[in-house]
This record gives sequence, structure tokens and C-alpha cells, in this order.
Amino acid sequence: MKISGNTILVTGGGTGIGYALAEKFAGLGNEVIICGRRENKLEEAKARIPALHTIKCDISKDAERQELCKQIAANFSGINVLVNNAGIQRRIDLSRGADELLSNEDEIEINLRSQIYLAARFVPMLIDKDESAIINVSSGLGFVPIAAFPVYSATKAAIHSFTKSLRQQLKDTRIKVFEVIPPGVYDTELKGKPMPKSDWSISAKEMADAVLEGLGNDQYEIAAGTARGWVNASRNELDKAFENTNNR
Ligand SMILES: NC(=O)c1ccc[n+]([C@@H]2O[C@H](COP(=O)([O-])OP(=O)(O)OC[C@H]3O[C@@H](n4cnc5c(N)ncnc54)[C@H](OP(=O)(O)O)[C@@H]3O)[C@@H](O)[C@H]2O)c1
Repeated sequence: MKISGNTILVTGGGTGIGYALAEKFAGLGNEVIICGRRENKLEEAKARIPALHTIKCDISKDAERQELCKQIAANFSGINVLVNNAGIQRRIDLSRGADELLSNEDEIEINLRSQIYLAARFVPMLIDKDESAIINVSSGLGFVPIAAFPVYSATKAAIHSFTKSLRQQLKDTRIKVFEVIPPGVYDTELKGKPMPKSDWSISAKEMADAVLEGLGNDQYEIAAGTARGWVNASRNELDKAFENTNNR
């Protein structure tokens, strides 16, 4: 797909991978809108990249995501790209029953249902554009789960499945459907604060570079680092990676 001249919504674009993507897209001459729940993060992003448009929105709340779609349709009629990036990750120990599961935010709502909802809502806005795209961010953990993040890993496997079905359903339209499959990305807020850099993780900027290269080459599954190996691994290799990752 073309990587300049687009109008792009990046959900969760105030921090981490979403911000790195927004920065890249804006630098390439795209009009970029970012959304998220924390106004201060959106403002900080806009202070660094004044051309950004910001919309405060909790995509897990039905009324707010409906309002987001309304605002995009009303104010950005040229919208032709949705980047479904917003997500959270929770450590949940199910051996203790349901307490931890129910005690905090719902990963299924944020990571899965919201992406599906926004994709469906955006199809009518994208379908009559010369070229358009839906870009869903999953994770290497959708291929090799980490047991400590059981619901997170499951939502990412579901996003992989959903993205394949969506791509198939839209194959006769001009909407291209991409999946971005990051490995560990150390300088984001997914775990509350940036992780230390390790030999299996990359930076958000490196991830954004890989995404832009993949989009430009119409590579529909864009993986980087360790996730690249996992995407095309055999069942045996995936089982071995699961053992290594969960028992180290
Ligand atoms: N970092 C990694 O190692 C890694 C690896 C693989 C995949 N990923 C995926 O990459 C994506 C981006 O994560 P990241 O690592 O860049 O973490 P991040 O810095 O925490 O970014 C996530 C963004 O999503 C937003 N968000 C969360 N819940 C939201 C909601 N209900 N409504 C609107 N916005 C919401 C957050 O902003 P607010 O809190 O202000 O709403 C935040 O800006 C996620 O889908 C994640 O699963 C990350």
C-alpha cells in the first residue's frame, strides 16, 4: 500500500508502538489521528508532533467508540487507514480462581472486542476509497503464549484468526488487511513502565520501521524479531518455543 498521503487513525497512539507509528506516518506526509484514554499522553504526543489530531476515547466503552467513529466520519472524511493498536496486558494467576481475573480491566473487551467492533465500523468508511487498509496489532504471544498472561495471549491468538477471516472477506474490495506481530518491545507502557532492553526485544521505533517497510511491500503479516520465526514455525517448533519461554 502507499505509505504517504493517507488519513490514519491509530488507536492507543499516545505511547509505545502506536506513538512510534504515528510519528513515522506523520513524518511521511500522512494525516494522523491518535486516540487513547489519558488526555495527558495525547497532549504530550501532540506537543512533540504538532500536526497530530487527538481524540480522547476509551475504545472498550460502546458509547465512546460509537462517538469516535462519528467524529472520524464527520471531521476526517478522507479516512482510509485504521490501525487497531490499543491494548493492555495483565498477569493473571488462574490457579487462584477468578479473583484476579475479575479484579481489573477486561483484556477481552479492550484487545479483542474493540478491534473487531472498530474494524466492522470502519469498513463502510474505507470501502469507497481508492486504497485503504485495516492494520491489526496482534503479538508473538498469539503464536507462543506466555502462561502468566493467559487472557492476553488468547486475545492475540484470536486477533490473528480474526484478521485472516477479515482479509478473506474483504479480498474483492480495495481494503487491504494487515496483521502486525511484534516480539517483545521494551520501551512501551504495556507493562506499566519500560522493560530493560534484552536480546529478545526491540524498540518501538524499530517495530515501526518494520511496519512501514511491510506495508510498503504489501506484506500482509508483518512480524519482527523472535516473532518472525514463530509466525512460520511448525507445530513442533511452536511447542519447543512454548517450553523454552515458559520454563526459563
Ligand atoms: N510491548 C510489547 O512487548 C508488545 C509485544 C507484542 C504486541 N504488543 C501490542 O502492541 C500494542 C501497543 O502496545 P505497547 O507495547 O505500545 O503498549 P503501550 O505503550 O501501553 O500502548 C498501548 C496504548 O493503548 C492505549 N489504550 C489501552 N487501553 C485503551 C482503551 N480502552 N481505549 C483507548 N486506548 C487504550 C493506551 O493509552 P491509555 O492508557 O491512555 O488509554 C496506550 O497508549 C498492543 O496491542 C500490544 O498488545 C506489544
